[in-house]
Amino acid sequence: MASKLREDYPWTASPVIINAPMAGIAGTPLATAVTGSGGIGMIGIDDAAKLQAQLEDASNIFGSSSSPSPNPAASAFYQERGLLPIGVGLLVFHVKTLDLVLPALCQHPPALIWLFAAPSLPDYAAWTSMLRATLPTTKIWIQVGTSSAAVEVARTAAPDVIVAQGSDAGGHGFARSASVISLLPETTALFAAEKRLLSTPRPPPVLVAAGGIVNGSGVAAALSLGAAGAVMGTAFLAAQETTLHPAYRAAVLDARDGATATVRSAVFDELRGPNVWPGVYDGRALATQSYREWITGTEIEVLREKVAEAVKGEDKGFGGRAPVWAGTGVGLVNEVRKAGDIVVSVREGARAALREALAAVGDL
Ligand SMILES: Cc1cc2nc3c(=O)[nH]c(=O)nc-3n(C[C@H](O)[C@H](O)[C@H](O)COP(=O)(O)O)c2cc1C
Repeated sequence: MASKLREDYPWTASPVIINAPMAGIAGTPLATAVTGSGGIGMIGIDDAAKLQAQLEDASNIFGSSSSPSPNPAASAFYQERGLLPIGVGLLVFHVKTLDLVLPALCQHPPALIWLFAAPSLPDYAAWTSMLRATLPTTKIWIQVGTSSAAVEVARTAAPDVIVAQGSDAGGHGFARSASVISLLPETTALFAAEKRLLSTPRPPPVLVAAGGIVNGSGVAAALSLGAAGAVMGTAFLAAQETTLHPAYRAAVLDARDGATATVRSAVFDELRGPNVWPGVYDGRALATQSYREWITGTEIEVLREKVAEAVKGEDKGFGGRAPVWAGTGVGLVNEVRKAGDIVVSVREGARAALREALAAVGDL
């Protein structure tokens, strides 16, 4: 499985680390730094109008003949296959129509497009076939949070990769979810048993893990659970290259004990007005003052007024009123670092953790 990822994204080093396409937070600087260090860098689209410029920047970084490439193998991939060595994440319910992003994607096709948060699972099949008709060499990744959704999406959309997102994940995810420790093995077992999947013209999707992975031992665990690579979102909130308000980053760096510092709730999506997310989603964020007041009975209208007031302040409300999306791994995310250093240290940490685990079991 791991070799399939390295075949499709040949600039990567093993184990493959991917940054989550956090909309508005993961832009070109983060994506190019992650790819530059042998991971798979992702841009998360919050505004379709910005995509063209973001992809152009990436094209200049990997396609320039005048300045050194951050990863010569990634530049060679770009030159040979005509695909940018990064991915683009789209929130299906938010982007609404591919027409808004297709011109930019066609001009600078990325190595992969990651789809998430479709209003319903059948939407993925429609989006995947439209994208494949227009961008036949771009791989399609789809993120889901349950083994049954993984099987349905594999059957109907046949993406190249399914990102199995566990309940520890920061940001939005399936409200009814399991941690990767059970989600991945069950999904792997279902894929193995699913004869109809095998009869589709495409091979079963490669599985990648997301949710609560912030260091080498988390990546090592994901690999032993059957994942071919690991996605990290929360860990990259500490990266210099993310587009993040200083007060947001400070709240993440200060948080300890992700079990109590974070919580899954749909209330975070109600704080700035009525929730626009499809009903199956909620989100994991820091258990802020807004959250504490909500669970002790404060009306949502009152909380909205406080948030509206707080976002006018210098900290843009990230001192406790506005949502600070983060996963349960947040307690281990304590210092600002370069994204490339995060990728390299997590990759080396994973290798060390795997060696230590083998040594611990002794003779096999
Ligand atoms: C701040 C933040 C923003 C996110 N935004 C997106 C997004 O726009 N699109 C998406 O597909 N996933 C998004 N996610 C979820 C990630 O894809 C991924 O599942 C998650 O970060 C993995 O868990 P971790 O945060 O514990 O590493 C976001 C996560 C975080 C923490």
